Amino acid sequence: MVRKGHTGFVFKVALMGKILVTGAAGQIGTELVERLCSRYGRENIIATDLKFPHVPECEHGQMDVTSRDSVDEFFREHSIDSVYHLAAVLSARGEENPGRAFDVNANGTKNVLDASLRSGVKRVLIPSTIGVFGPQTPKRKVPVETVTRPVTMYGITKIFCELLGEYYFRKYRLDVRGLRLPGIISYKSPPGGGTTDYSIEMIVSAVKGKSYTCFLRSDTRLPMMYIPDAIESIIKLSEADGGKLIHRTDFNVSAFDFTPGELETELRKYFSGFSVEYRPDERQKIAETWPSTLDCRAAVDEWGFSPRFDMSRMVEDMVRNLSDQSSPAGKR
Ligand SMILES: NC(=O)c1ccc[n+]([C@@H]2O[C@H](COP(=O)([O-])OP(=O)(O)OC[C@H]3O[C@@H](n4cnc5c(N)ncnc54)[C@H](O)[C@@H]3O)[C@@H](O)[C@H]2O)c1
Repeated sequence: MVRKGHTGFVFKVALMGKILVTGAAGQIGTELVERLCSRYGRENIIATDLKFPHVPECEHGQMDVTSRDSVDEFFREHSIDSVYHLAAVLSARGEENPGRAFDVNANGTKNVLDASLRSGVKRVLIPSTIGVFGPQTPKRKVPVETVTRPVTMYGITKIFCELLGEYYFRKYRLDVRGLRLPGIISYKSPPGGGTTDYSIEMIVSAVKGKSYTCFLRSDTRLPMMYIPDAIESIIKLSEADGGKLIHRTDFNVSAFDFTPGELETELRKYFSGFSVEYRPDERQKIAETWPSTLDCRAAVDEWGFSPRFDMSRMVEDMVRNLSDQSSPAGKR
C-alpha cells in the first residue's frame, strides 16, 4: 500500500494484517482510531474496548483485556499485524480500585503481549506515562534513565509494562515500543480519570461560562501535551525505523508544562470573568510525586519527536473547538 504522509512525502506501509487498538473508546483511543483510519484505510483498523459510547467508523468489537481466553480468541479470529494497546485504568481511578488497575494494566498487558507473540504480530505500541516517576525522581528536566519508584498502583503497573515490553523484545524479538505521555489535553472525548484531567475540566468550565473548583493547588507544575501532538507522536514512534531505536518502551515526551494558576491566567485572556477556586484533594498527593518538566532528547534524536502546539496555541484551539461544539450549530 502506498500512502501520502502528513508531511507530504510518499511512504510505503506494508500491511499484511490489520491494526488492532485496545481501549479504543477512551480519551486517546477515540482520536487515534480516527487518525489510523485516515492514514491506513478504515478497512485495516479494528477498534476494541469494553463498550463504545460512540460507534467507530471501522470494524469494532468487545474485548476485555483481563480475560486471557477472550484476548486469545480475538487474536486467533483476526489476522493482526500490529497493536496499539491503550486499555488501562489511569492514576486517580486506579487509586479508587487498585485491584482493578493491577488486573487491567498488568495482567491485561501480559495477555495482549502473549497473544501478540503467539499470533505473529509484528509490533505492539503501549503508551506509558509520567506516572512511572515517584517522589525520589528529580523534578526538572527528568531524563529517561532516572529513579522510577512510583507510589501509585497506576505507576507501579505502568513501569512493569515498560519493563515487560523490553523483556519481550529482548527475549522473543517482539517489537514492543512505548512512550511516557504527560497529561493529554483534548476535547472530543472525556478524560478517563487521570490526575491531569483538571486542565480539560478548567477549559471546559471557562468556555461554558462557569467557575471551576480545581483539585490541584494553583502552583502544581506538570508536563502536558495537546492531543494532535500525542496522536502524531504515537504514530511516528510506531513507524520509526526500529534499527535506530536505542530506547524501546520508555521515551519521555512532553510539549509544554504549566500550573493550574498559569492555565487560569491564560483562560482569562478569553474569558475575563473566569474564576477558579483551589481545593486540593487526594490527587494533589499523586501530582506531587511527578516531575514538572521532562528531558525529551531521546525521542527527538531517535525518532524525530517534534510537537507543534505550545500552551497558548493549545488553549486557543481548545477554546475555539469547544465553543463550536456548544454553539447551536455544533449541537445539531
Ligand atoms: N490521557 C492521558 O492524559 C494519559 C497520560 C499518560 C498516559 N496515558 C496512557 O494512554 C493510554 C490510553 O489512555 P486514555 O487517556 O485514553 O485512557 P481512558 O481511560 O480514557 O481510556 C482507557 C480505555 O480502556 C478501556 N478499558 C478499561 N479496562 C479495560 C479492559 N479490561 N479491557 C478492555 N478495555 C478496557 C476503557 O473502557 C477506556 O475506554 C493508557 O495506556 C494510559 O496509561 C494517558
